[in-house]
Amino acid sequence: MGTLKNATSTPIQIEFRDVTKTYGPVAVIKNMSLSIRSGEFLTLLGPSGSGKTTALMLLAGFVVPTSGDILVSGKSVADVPSHRRDQGMLFQSYALFPHLTVRRNLEFPLETRGINAAERARRVDRMLQRVHLQDFDNRMPSQLSGGQQQRVALARALVADPPILLLDEPLGALDRNLREHMQHEIKSLHREFGKTTICVTHDQEEALTLSDRIVVMRGGQIEQVDSPELLYDRPATRFVANFLGEANFIDKAGFEVEVDAAPPSGTLPMIRPERVAIMEIGAIPNSDDLRQVISGTVQDVIYAGPLRRYVVRVAESTFVVREHVVSGQPIFRPHDKVQLHWLRSDVRFVAA
Ligand SMILES: Nc1ncnc2c1ncn2[C@@H]1O[C@H](COP(=O)(O)OP(=O)(O)OP(=O)(O)O)[C@@H](O)[C@H]1O
Ligand SMILES: [Mg+2]
Repeated sequence: MGTLKNATSTPIQIEFRDVTKTYGPVAVIKNMSLSIRSGEFLTLLGPSGSGKTTALMLLAGFVVPTSGDILVSGKSVADVPSHRRDQGMLFQSYALFPHLTVRRNLEFPLETRGINAAERARRVDRMLQRVHLQDFDNRMPSQLSGGQQQRVALARALVADPPILLLDEPLGALDRNLREHMQHEIKSLHREFGKTTICVTHDQEEALTLSDRIVVMRGGQIEQVDSPELLYDRPATRFVANFLGEANFIDKAGFEVEVDAAPPSGTLPMIRPERVAIMEIGAIPNSDDLRQVISGTVQDVIYAGPLRRYVVRVAESTFVVREHVVSGQPIFRPHDKVQLHWLRSDVRFVAA
């Protein structure tokens, strides 16, 4: 998000040190080590059951590590109960107090911090305006839509102005439009207040849009941590390449992949669909760079607004090609013979 200016000089605020959490014989978090900088927007991304909520609950103090330690501002929080950790939390199920009005829900974290009634009212009013719910303060949660409840939950996490914000699927229950609106809202709140934010999602687009860094989780372990750009452009593993965006694995495509240098052992060549271009048989790529050209047959073409997506059969495998629709471009149909081409330097090698 570009809010982390001078990232290397920003102090580390949160540290997971070799944290493991087991339930009976099953380790749901395995040897997790991670440093989070002050003001950073970090997203935990991964499939269902990969340990995202557990990692957040460990930090919030609702789950206790089996081994390892968590430090906040350099100090272990092992002996700090969750209500004494200065963090705002939005739970996955948004867990509003069902017997309290919207206003009373928002007052709760302020009361536990000993803030007086007049100041509470002032802060609640300001926060409700911020999430566009100023006219809903006397409603009960059951009288709100899912999206409205989610906005109340976000407001409640923010209202006490905690230095650390933990958000578990904050936009999960929202439809597409409201989701985009709230993404924007969360982003601008982060830009404005610069809170260290740890957000959980399984939505890759959301992770790419919001985060300074993304932690990809898999089976209780960190698979890769990087900026959105690097994760997408330089995925370390096949899992990451598949989880974030679409990937063409070209190892079994029935042709020799041309490379500039010998690939590291145990890796697979991969190319993103938007890096592959499609053209008529016999055409020559309009470029002097080293490009690989192969031929195939169009199997399918799908229009998606400004994008056109081809599936092209090449020997034993299929390629996905994604191109931006521009005027004057040839359009291919199923069964057309075509050529695909790409820059050699756009091929990535990921761990199998
Ligand atoms: N209290 C518990 N007892 C036993 N197993 C648990 C407990 N809480 C979580 N687990 C298991 O730990 C694993 C990780 O759960 P977690 O809730 O952290 O996943 P998640 O990544 O948040 O998934 P989702 O995207 O579905 O919310 C799951 O296999 C889950 O069944
Ligand atoms: Mg979860």
